[in-house]
Amino acid sequence: MSILVTGVAGFIGFHTARALLARGERVIGIDNLNDYYDTRLKEARLAELKAPGFTFCKLDIADRDSLFTLVAANKDLTGIIHLAAQAGVRHSLANPYSYIDSNIMGTLVILEAARRIERFTALTYASSSSVYGANKKQPFSVADPVNKPVSLYAASKRSCELIARSYSHLYGLPATGLRYFTAYGPWGRPDMAAWLFTEAILADQPIRVFNEGHMARDFTYIDDIVAGTIAAHDRPATLAGGEETVPHRVYNLGNHKPEKLLDFIAVIERALGRTAEKQLLPMQPGDVAESFADIDTARRDLGFEPKISIEEGIARFIAWYKHYHKIN
Ligand SMILES: NC(=O)c1ccc[n+]([C@@H]2O[C@H](COP(=O)([O-])OP(=O)(O)OC[C@H]3O[C@@H](n4cnc5c(N)ncnc54)[C@H](O)[C@@H]3O)[C@@H](O)[C@H]2O)c1
Repeated sequence: MSILVTGVAGFIGFHTARALLARGERVIGIDNLNDYYDTRLKEARLAELKAPGFTFCKLDIADRDSLFTLVAANKDLTGIIHLAAQAGVRHSLANPYSYIDSNIMGTLVILEAARRIERFTALTYASSSSVYGANKKQPFSVADPVNKPVSLYAASKRSCELIARSYSHLYGLPATGLRYFTAYGPWGRPDMAAWLFTEAILADQPIRVFNEGHMARDFTYIDDIVAGTIAAHDRPATLAGGEETVPHRVYNLGNHKPEKLLDFIAVIERALGRTAEKQLLPMQPGDVAESFADIDTARRDLGFEPKISIEEGIARFIAWYKHYHKIN
């Protein structure tokens, strides 16, 4: 049996594949290795994954012929963990089309590929906390309406949830969407806060602090994100449970402990032993001021329990960052 992991050269895909391989699974990883950020980081992650149970195919998920050929050639495939996407809220202002191509068309192709897998067990796919958009009620709950996206990225992720649900309804396809809340940790993304702040502080450059620091994020350590992802995949959505009438579920995977942005910066400053020069800037279009995950249903159904504190997680990230960049 093998599991298909899309976006395997990305931050969460890499860690998820590594954890699956560590417990003896066979993983077929796909990624188009796009240059949204430095592809050397993606190549370096792939190099870490080299193991007998791992196969990599460079492939665009929107390329349906190639994907269906891959599925037809791998009869031992049973499940899909779909993490490939064009990520990033700010990037979607300047590059809207890639969000439709990769996120919406790509997810449709993945669903069609799932229908072609004979012994299919489960699709687990990445959604995002950004679907909560302009919602004011905190913490964000999966029972809340999510009809107010404030970025195209958020709209694309919500669309994926709706399309997945329609496939569950039409074809009985078990699918679970995971609304991730700001993942961080070793091998993280260069466009996200932990990396950007660390990089700037070490280079004695000012850091850009949006909404003049009046922001909070439910930063979630990567090992907790991966544990929740694999727990969801191990427990395919069924018909039994809750008000949902099709085998489709959505969960929040967050730390359930939002950090004020200025406190988050202070944790990085302490870990680096340096003080940041802060450039206070207005709110960016597409951003939300605060994210805070209600994780009750993830706890109940998946046994999800975030374990890593922000201090411990940032210390691990900075140790990795220095090692990766050969900084003493
Ligand atoms: N990191 C977070 O905090 C966070 C938060 C919410 C949601 N998510 C979602 O989780 C998933 C993984 O995010 P990540 O942080 O690992 O991002 P990432 O950018 O590091 O990884 C995504 C990977 O997908 C690949 N990819 C993109 N488009 C593709 C395509 N059309 N075909 C094949 N491969 C393609 C990229 O090359 C990349 O390696 C994404 O769906 C993202 O939207 C992440």
